[in-house]
Amino acid sequence: ELIADRSALWHSIGHDSEWDARIAAALNAVRAQGRAGRRAPREIHDLRAVLDGMRLIKDDGEIDTMRRAAAISAAGHARAMRHCRPGMAEYELEAELTHEFRRRGADGHAYTPIVAGGANACVLHYVENDRVLPDNALVLIDAGCELDGYAADITRTFPVNGRFSPAQRDCYEIVLAAQQAAIAAVRPGASFMAYHDAAVRTLAQGMVDLKLLTGSIDSIVESDAYKRFYMHRTGHWLGLDVHDAGEYKEDREGGEWIRLAAGMTLTVEPGLYIRPAADVPHELHGIGIRIEDDVVVTTGGCEVYTDAPKSVAEIEEVMRRD
Ligand code: GLY
Ligand code: MN
Ligand code: MN
Repeated sequence: ELIADRSALWHSIGHDSEWDARIAAALNAVRAQGRAGRRAPREIHDLRAVLDGMRLIKDDGEIDTMRRAAAISAAGHARAMRHCRPGMAEYELEAELTHEFRRRGADGHAYTPIVAGGANACVLHYVENDRVLPDNALVLIDAGCELDGYAADITRTFPVNGRFSPAQRDCYEIVLAAQQAAIAAVRPGASFMAYHDAAVRTLAQGMVDLKLLTGSIDSIVESDAYKRFYMHRTGHWLGLDVHDAGEYKEDREGGEWIRLAAGMTLTVEPGLYIRPAADVPHELHGIGIRIEDDVVVTTGGCEVYTDAPKSVAEIEEVMRRD
């Protein structure tokens, strides 16, 4: 009854095979009534293309929910920093995050959390979280809660014993500088890729300073040499899904990267992952760092709305043991 005599049908084609079958059966049922003068829709459109586009721009209510999810997630990260001790297992820190998320009324984790001690941080999708946290190592935590359906996505990296070593600090400051450069490139009208490019250039300079690579920044960027130590994109849309719906390129053949607009929410998450290797300075072996925050594009630039301890001084202060 709903589709008879309508010109077009909008449907999430291929999303749910049972629904696809029901839709096909309904179309055929209407077609069978052709001699009775009923017409089936001649056009069938994929509804998701339109809905996904609508999801790119968040309204004030959505942004408010995302801010609350971010505040709970940040509290979880601060709690993990306060409770961290050498010799604990990674899952014990995961439990601190879960505790804080649920204690504050979040639905739970928005995605499988990563708690990666030492060189485990160099494994991008490490989710086992079952190893002991060694003294003198860093730990990387990528975790965010879901609240009223909306996700937060935060990564912090901090020293298990509460104090950065000089080498850890050098690497950390490079990733932090890359994140700051990236955040400065998030503004209305900028290409989606501009902030990734800004992060990559800062990281490439850092790789030279750390004696991981040699050559000019341009050559390191053009040759992709940096990808040995930074192999992922600098962020993604965030919303109902942690990797939210929405295109990254314009919807036409040969389309460019999407231009940012006020109300879009995305992550900014540069990293540096230094696996042990003969040509890598020994003190850098196994250092893996990512710093991830969530931002909303505003009319004048962007606002970082995740607020977990981030500078070396802030982290060491939160972790002080005296
Ligand atoms: N937590 C998933 C991501 O950072 O993309
Ligand atoms: Mn992310
Ligand atoms: Mn993340």
